[in-house]
Amino acid sequence: MSEFRPVRGMRDLLPKEAQMLRSVEEKARTVAELYGYKEIVTPVVESYDLLSAKAGEEVKSRMFLFKDLGGRDVALRPEFTASVARLVATTLRNEPKPLRLFCVGSVYRYDEPQRGRYREFWQSNYELMGSNRPEADAEILVLTNCLLQQTGLTKYAFKVGHIGVLKGLLSQEKVDGKVQNAVMQLMDKKQYNDAIALLEESGTPQQCISIIRRLVELKGANTLEIVDSIENLVDGYEQSVEAARNLGEILALVSRSGCKIDITVEAGFARGLEYYTGMIFETYAPDLDIALGGGGRYNRLIQLFGGEPAPAVGVAHGIDRIMLGLQMQKTQEESNERKAVTVVPIKDELVSEAFRIAQSLRQAGISAELEVMGRKIVKALEVADKKNAAFVVIVGEKELKENSTIVRDLAKREQQIVSIEKIGEYLKNHS
Ligand code: HAM
Repeated sequence: MSEFRPVRGMRDLLPKEAQMLRSVEEKARTVAELYGYKEIVTPVVESYDLLSAKAGEEVKSRMFLFKDLGGRDVALRPEFTASVARLVATTLRNEPKPLRLFCVGSVYRYDEPQRGRYREFWQSNYELMGSNRPEADAEILVLTNCLLQQTGLTKYAFKVGHIGVLKGLLSQEKVDGKVQNAVMQLMDKKQYNDAIALLEESGTPQQCISIIRRLVELKGANTLEIVDSIENLVDGYEQSVEAARNLGEILALVSRSGCKIDITVEAGFARGLEYYTGMIFETYAPDLDIALGGGGRYNRLIQLFGGEPAPAVGVAHGIDRIMLGLQMQKTQEESNERKAVTVVPIKDELVSEAFRIAQSLRQAGISAELEVMGRKIVKALEVADKKNAAFVVIVGEKELKENSTIVRDLAKREQQIVSIEKIGEYLKNHS
C-alpha cells in the first residue's frame, strides 16, 4: 500500500502550529468578550441551498458539496455568515436586537492550494445584527484592528469601500441583477476591463461607464477627501451619493475612536460574496499579498432566510493567514520556557509508585509526564532535557523508604531530596 498523506489542500497541524492556532483563537475569544459578542457553535455541514443562496459564483463553485446518505444536498461550510443568518432568521428571531454573535472554527473551500490558501482553514467570525447605523460598521472595523493588534501583528492595513456606490449606479441605470453580480465578481478579481466590457455589452450608458472607470482609479489614504471625491463623481445617482455619505460617517467614527488604523479607501473595491449591501473591507499584511480578514454590511440576508428584516454587518478573520503573518513578522512568542515535569522510576518495581506520584502532581495542577518507555535513568534524563522539561522526579528505592524522591532541576543541573508530599510545593516554588 502506498504511503498515506493528507488529501490535497488539507494539512496536519503539528504541536507548535496547533498551539499557535489555539493561541490566536483564544485572542479572538477575548476580543469577542471585550466587545460583547456571545459565542455560538454551528454545524460544519449545512444545506447547500442555504450556503449557496448569496455566496456568489466564486465561493459556490468551490464548495465541498455532496449528498448525504438521506439524499440531501449538503456542503461543508465555506464561511459562517449564512449559518449565523439562518439562526437569527429562525431560532433567535425573537431575541432583542442587536445580536452580537461570535464563531470560531474550520471552514472549507476547494481553493487552489498555495501559501496562505488552503482547503481547510480557520476563521474567527463576528456578526452584529439588527443595526443599520454607521456605529455598527465602525465597531466591526475597530474590533478587527483590536484583534490584529492583540495577536501581536505590527504591520497591517485596511482597504475599505462601499458596494452601494457601484450598486447605486447600476441599479439606477437598470442593469440586470445577474449582470451586476457578474460585474462585482470581475471587479473583486480586479478584472476591471472585463467588467467594463460586460457593462458595455449589456447596454449600460457611456456616462455611467465613464464614472465607473474613474471610480476604479479613485483610491487613497486621505480617506475623507476620497469619500468627498466619490460623492462628487456620482452626483445625480441618489443611492450612490447616500452610500458615499454613509462611508464618510463610518470612517469619521473610526477616526474618532482614537485607533490609529492604516486605511485606504478604494472606490472601485468589490468582494466576491454576493450578500453585501454596504460598507465592505479587507485587511492586509504588507509582506503577504492575501487578505488576513474581510467583511462588510449585508442588510437582506436574514430576510431572505425567512426572518424579520434585520440589517447586519460582520467580519471573518483568516486565522491561518494571521499565523503566517506572525511567522513572517517574527513576533510570535517562542516558548522555550522549560515547564513540564517528568517522573522516572529507577527500576520496574517502582513504576506503580511513580505512576501514583505523577497522578498526585497533576491533581495539584502540575503538568507531569510519566516515563513510559522503560528507559534507564541516564537515558530518561537525556530525553527529558531534549524535550525541555523543567524537572525530573526520580523515584528511587532508597529515597522511597524515607517517603522521598530526588527532584532534579534540568536547567540548573542540581538535584535535591524532597519528601513526596512536598514535591508539588517544591516545584511551584522553584519554577
Ligand atoms: P471572506 O473574505 O471570504 O469573507 O473570508 C474571510 C477571510 O478568510 C479571508 O480574508 C482570509 O483571511 C480567509 N480565507 C479565505 N479563503 C481562505 C483560504 N482558502 N485559505 C486560508 N484562508 C482563507 C467571509 O468569509 C465572510 N463570511 C466575512 C463576513 C462575515 N462578512 C460578513 N460577515
